[in-house]
Amino acid sequence: MTRDFAGKVGFVTGGASGIGEAIALQLAARGARVVVADLKLDAAQKVVAAIKAAGGEAAAVAVDVGRMDEVEKAVQFALDTYGALNVAVNNAGIGGAAAPLGDYSFEDWHKVIDVNLNSVFYSMKYEIAAMLKGGGGAIVNMASILGSVTFPNAPAYVTAKHGVVGMTKSAAVDYAKKGIRVTAVGPGFIDTPLLAALPKPAYDALASAHPIGRLGTADEVAALTLFLLSDAASNITGSYHVVDGGYIAQ
Ligand code: NAI
Repeated sequence: MTRDFAGKVGFVTGGASGIGEAIALQLAARGARVVVADLKLDAAQKVVAAIKAAGGEAAAVAVDVGRMDEVEKAVQFALDTYGALNVAVNNAGIGGAAAPLGDYSFEDWHKVIDVNLNSVFYSMKYEIAAMLKGGGGAIVNMASILGSVTFPNAPAYVTAKHGVVGMTKSAAVDYAKKGIRVTAVGPGFIDTPLLAALPKPAYDALASAHPIGRLGTADEVAALTLFLLSDAASNITGSYHVVDGGYIAQ
């Protein structure tokens, strides 16, 4: 495997499971020193142990990405531990309650907006400050296909992910001349613990909604994310890239 991230420091929120875990593992395998930031410290430590067992370098930090003070501390942890921040993936997210907008509770709305949208503002705010000190960097924000189309009974999630796409464009344009690239990834439905609670008929229906006939894998999302973080993507910023088995092409 190419070690094109050697010498770089990566920061991955929600890095303890699913898509974030795959990104953390792939970044470390390609040479980055990786901070695995997650609400679940034990699970983050297991990912760090797996990276170390494979000969990589990583550290875990506990963070609730819905809290600005905790995000500031987690980014500072990356700087204190590895001395720089070069690439970041704002990936932590939740599905949230399922209900149409008129039945959505204030509590459920604010929870999803805090964890899936405000978190990306908090994260980029501190990541960009850290990257500017080091002369630049690259950020990928994990949106969703629901950053460009809707889905029944998911008003907060759909709103948050559309917001992530807009925030990505805003930050990308403001920092393009300062050496920081910012892009968004839009996965289709991916076979991760986020979907583990689905009953089999619902899972099968989701799979068949993708022209490719199956759900995506976390490794497929990680592959696109690492391309966007890499120097091979040096002219790519402000854009939103789906990895969805053809879902939104229909
Ligand atoms: P997952 O549930 O496997 O992993 C999410 C991780 O985020 C977990 O480790 C969890 O502990 C962490 N997390 C949750 N709330 C947090 C908080 N407040 N602070 C810090 N960490 C927190 O989920 P998955 O599927 O890997 O999702 C990752 C991202 O990809 C999310 O933003 C999700 O919206 C997005 N996505 C997922 C899709 C799917 O079908 N699985 C489809 C499209 C986008």
